[in-house]
Amino acid sequence: MTEADEKRVIGEVVDASVLGGINVKLSLTNPENIRTGFPVIAEGKKYDFYCVVADVFNPPVDVVDSLATSDLGKLSIPAVSPGLQKGYFGNVFYSKVLLEPIQLIDKENGAMTDVETIPPYFTKVRLATTTDVKAIYQPTKTSMAIGNLRGMPEFEIPIDFDKLTQKAFALLGRTSAGKSFLNKIICNFILKTGVASVLLFDMHNEYGTYSATDNSRGLKFYFPEKIEWLTLNPEKNKEAAPFFIDPRSITPEDLILAITDLTTRMQDAIWTINGRRGRNDLLTAIRTTQPGSVATIPDSTLQGLQARIARIDRLQFLRPKPKSAKEDSFTMMLRKIREGKSIVLDFGRYGRESMVYLFVANIISRRLHEIYTDRGEDLPRLVIFLEEAHKFLAPEVAELTIFSILAREMRKFNLVVSIIDQRPSKIDDEVMSQLGNRMILSLKDPKDLSAALAGIPKAKVWTNIAQSIPLRTALIVGDAVRVPTVIEVLDYAKIDAILKAAPARRMTSEQIKKVAKDAERIVQSIG
Ligand SMILES: Nc1ncnc2c1ncn2[C@@H]1O[C@H](COP(=O)(O)OP(=O)(O)OP(=O)(O)O)[C@@H](O)[C@H]1O
Ligand SMILES: [Mg+2]
Repeated sequence: MTEADEKRVIGEVVDASVLGGINVKLSLTNPENIRTGFPVIAEGKKYDFYCVVADVFNPPVDVVDSLATSDLGKLSIPAVSPGLQKGYFGNVFYSKVLLEPIQLIDKENGAMTDVETIPPYFTKVRLATTTDVKAIYQPTKTSMAIGNLRGMPEFEIPIDFDKLTQKAFALLGRTSAGKSFLNKIICNFILKTGVASVLLFDMHNEYGTYSATDNSRGLKFYFPEKIEWLTLNPEKNKEAAPFFIDPRSITPEDLILAITDLTTRMQDAIWTINGRRGRNDLLTAIRTTQPGSVATIPDSTLQGLQARIARIDRLQFLRPKPKSAKEDSFTMMLRKIREGKSIVLDFGRYGRESMVYLFVANIISRRLHEIYTDRGEDLPRLVIFLEEAHKFLAPEVAELTIFSILAREMRKFNLVVSIIDQRPSKIDDEVMSQLGNRMILSLKDPKDLSAALAGIPKAKVWTNIAQSIPLRTALIVGDAVRVPTVIEVLDYAKIDAILKAAPARRMTSEQIKKVAKDAERIVQSIG
């Protein structure tokens, strides 16, 4: 161990197991300097064990129990006074940390492997340095840093956006945890790296030019050429192009999902009317059905249904294509997507109505699904962002929406869904298990934590970590980053400079050679 590393030592290994992690007795007198999620290295003989701090604790000590609250008692024990603590047995009163080993790094050749062993007793443990961490987090052609490693402000963590956007992913965290800001960073970086286009249902007018909630700059500000800004409320938003939905594209599922207070009878009535509507659109067919005209639909049911669909009927963006128009709004949107554009759909005054959001997001995504799965052509990769995802993906509604299918089987079709939610426990397990990457911000509810981390190896350890991280900090698990990592999310105010910087980082030929070499070593060490 070098002299500089010696200075970073925090303690020594006292017990360890592959399953349970590594317990370290701290030589630091103040445990407050160590936090969960910090990266550390246990320097074994053959391997450096790259670990994160999973827990910090003061083990129970009988004499402490006796002395606590007695100043006199404490004075009578010299071991309590700083400087006199150390005898043969090290600190008499000490704290411990539990480490979760993440990777083994071969000291001789730098090869990295999974953790299948433990370091010896008394192995020194030190805070990781940027050199240690660099070996683990190597940038790629399509990576950008969404923040820094927790405990190491100077080290940015590259996330591979190409990998991230290949499969469904999720941003999970309680309210105010920082989901929307992280999402905005992610969208900007997807556009900057050019790995995919995005489709955002912008409920609160946050993603256009400026955010209406906090005035920060939106996607249209940074990528005016790449963003097609559309609005459901052209009277309010004059900068965006009007977007209309053709009533003929409405299906029974759309109504059942959006109108949450339909009785089972009303739902049955919708299906019945849909079966006999002829050339009428479904809303018109429901509106014009006369009481008594369909034997299986009682009058009271029909009236109830007609009263409820009036809420949808009044939406001004429901309009068939005018005869003079060349194409309807959806066809126009699709044309833009084909051209590689991203879409921000502003909800204007409808943004506070959850019903409108469910209705519109489902209709648009269903049609995109039809077109993307039609396989007649190669469409650009598109990520659909879904806030309040549990409203679409709760087990009781999942079959009405297209999103559970999108989350499950769309990878091969280039259509990917990103789930943003504060109540992961309400999302269908089946969907959660399909996620390629999860970014878990602060979550407190044990049910949400266990849903967020279900299926991840050593979920219990990561649950402890996720439970204790502060706001604006995210645990990232998945193939976009090599190992599960706790990241302090970038301050959005800094994104300006990052986006203005030269085109997405390219690796130098030196770096590429090094990565290739490392890869070879890994392959050899496995074989
Ligand atoms: N990366 C960041 N940079 C700057 N400010 C941030 C960042 N993340 C969060 N904030 C601040 O914290 C506040 C809450 O964050 P955000 O709106 O992203 O939370 P949220 O998880 O989306 O909450 P909700 O569940 O209520 O939608 C923001 O208004 C902003 O002031
Ligand atoms: Mg939010």
